[in-house]
Amino acid sequence: MTVPASAPSPPERLRPRPKGEALAVLKLLAHLGADHAEVVLTSREVGERIGVSQQAADRYLLGLEKRGLLTRSLAQRRQRLALSPAGLELLRAEYHSYRRIFEGPAKLSFSGVVTSGLGEGRYYLSQPGYVVQFSERLGYSPFPGTLNVRLTDRALRKVGLVGEWTGIRIDGFHASGRTFGGATCFRARMNGHPCHLIRPDRSHYKDVVEFVASDCLREALSLQDGSAVEVDIEES
Ligand code: CDP
Repeated sequence: MTVPASAPSPPERLRPRPKGEALAVLKLLAHLGADHAEVVLTSREVGERIGVSQQAADRYLLGLEKRGLLTRSLAQRRQRLALSPAGLELLRAEYHSYRRIFEGPAKLSFSGVVTSGLGEGRYYLSQPGYVVQFSERLGYSPFPGTLNVRLTDRALRKVGLVGEWTGIRIDGFHASGRTFGGATCFRARMNGHPCHLIRPDRSHYKDVVEFVASDCLREALSLQDGSAVEVDIEES
């Protein structure tokens, strides 16, 4: 995490958006409760709280409003501010980034039951467009198919948390006149055996999660439909 003193500053396009002061405004508003209700605050007060002039604070508020990160309204000449869902989302991403710095990659464990799917995994995972990316990004060419695991509502809610995690991206592509969707993968162990949880950007399944591995998980772990499995996943 240490950056050499001589490290060049990142190019403009890599700098985080919004800049520090605008983020400070969003943080201030969240602290004051603007994540769930409007708060009355003048631009001068905002400026004082984050250590910039009233004019600068006004500029930040305007910029954040234009980007849809907060809403501003005037009632009885008083400025009312609220964070938009996109503004809150941005703070959450910021939180997540700090959480990862200080606490390391997130992990979670859940159990589920092996089930058969629609038989499409084999077709998708045989597409060269996916195979190449899996080899490069996961480090293996996948056994052609995905192993499906049905989860309880509780486990599903847990797994929903990975929506906030950083994963390994598999990009969508076009081939043979069709579109193949993207997905995000997370390092996993199923009954201790290495594999990846794969979350397609668009999935038919509501209560099922899918796994890919270099080998046939059913064979390696002697699994059949109905077998219970324990899964550990890690932010990747
Ligand atoms: O969608 P469905 O479960 O019918 O099958 P698939 O994705 O086409 O995968 C073919 C078979 O291989 C299924 O029985 C999967 O459960 C299994 N499989 C496995 O055991 N290990 C993998 N790494 C991938 C798939």
